[in-house]
Amino acid sequence: MRDWEARQVALRNAIQHVVFCDVREERPLGTFDGGPYDVVSSMFLLSTVGKDRADFDEILSKLCSLVKPGGTLILVCDLEATRYTDGRVSYPLITLDAPYIRQAVRNSGFTDVEDDILFFRSTEGMNWDGTSYIYLTARKCAE
Ligand SMILES: C[S@@+](CC[C@H](N)C(=O)[O-])C[C@H]1O[C@@H](n2cnc3c(N)ncnc32)[C@H](O)[C@@H]1O
Repeated sequence: MRDWEARQVALRNAIQHVVFCDVREERPLGTFDGGPYDVVSSMFLLSTVGKDRADFDEILSKLCSLVKPGGTLILVCDLEATRYTDGRVSYPLITLDAPYIRQAVRNSGFTDVEDDILFFRSTEGMNWDGTSYIYLTARKCAE
């Protein structure tokens, strides 16, 4: 078994629940009462769901409420993108840049914000018009 396959099996075996999540809600996981959590990750979600930067901040703070003090947030976001398509429909994205995201995460009560940015040489043929992806981690401050 290759390394990524072993990780896939380990991840599947570690999953205890699959629950509905709406990051627009005050309690994103509804009545499911498992949190707050040591680690919360969100991949390519916030710029899709939000309407503008103010909305992004609000949704981010709801997501962050799921992280326990001292816990870790993992965020992956598109940078400088305006739209993506699933091949049939084109969807708008909030156009974000790295400094804005870092500051929004700090404003939501996090420290030790670290990130890597993956730049694309070309987006020709891709379903998306951004420049890069940011992979960010941060630690929630103690209350
Ligand atoms: C661009 S996709 C990313 C999916 C996946 N995270 C990935 O990396 O492939 C955006 C996702 O946001 C989800 N979504 C849309 N509105 C949402 C909401 N209010 N709360 C939680 N998720 C939402 C959609 O169902 C969709 O799966």
